[in-house]
Amino acid sequence: MKVKILRQQHPGAKPYWQTFEYEGDTGASIAAVLDSINYRDDIVDSDGNPTDRISWECSCVQGMCGACAMVINGVPALACDTFVKDLKGSFITIEPLRKFPVISDLVVDRGIIQENLRKINAFIGEYHKENEKDHELEYQIGRCLKCGLCLEACPNYVKGDNFYGPLFANDSFFVMSRSKGDSKQIKKDYGEHFAKGCSKSLACEKVCPVNIPTLASIAKMNRGK
Ligand code: FES
Repeated sequence: MKVKILRQQHPGAKPYWQTFEYEGDTGASIAAVLDSINYRDDIVDSDGNPTDRISWECSCVQGMCGACAMVINGVPALACDTFVKDLKGSFITIEPLRKFPVISDLVVDRGIIQENLRKINAFIGEYHKENEKDHELEYQIGRCLKCGLCLEACPNYVKGDNFYGPLFANDSFFVMSRSKGDSKQIKKDYGEHFAKGCSKSLACEKVCPVNIPTLASIAKMNRGK
């Protein structure tokens, strides 16, 4: 099987495709495929040209940290949770997330996620006791990996724009539900940085690796919780 990877040496460099042969197990994850290429004694592309190791990020390798988010066969997904046997076609394409600046190969800078949350103080601080009826949704939102896949899939999210994307809708609900802080302000920020820009394509829900029901957060926020 051939694996085509979109490579880029450094942030200012021109991206280029490079193809590798993969002859391993089809039960392997894309993370394992990348490892199998990187751990060869001599790394060569499919034409036999020597090349550098592929830069990519991972930590848990079990779908829990979000570090390995990338675009696999055109779909935003976690490399450690995507398996060769589930992909169609005779080759696999792997690209970095396109909505974030590339640092090197498949490594991108996702700092904008935290920056945007910081800008509007989306943190809880002093908090209310939990409300039983919102517990399930809050629990699911609490599992957000901040991996950026929802932003990658969202047709309305554009780098550096005023629309902060689906994870912001979820965090807004969480903060409004639990924080003793200024709920008027969080509602205002939600209107400004999410409600105005969302077209409800729900592409975010389809790619979320932990299945956060963003529509439920949107419904709660739009009703004023
Ligand atoms: S390495 Fe942690 S989610 Fe893939």
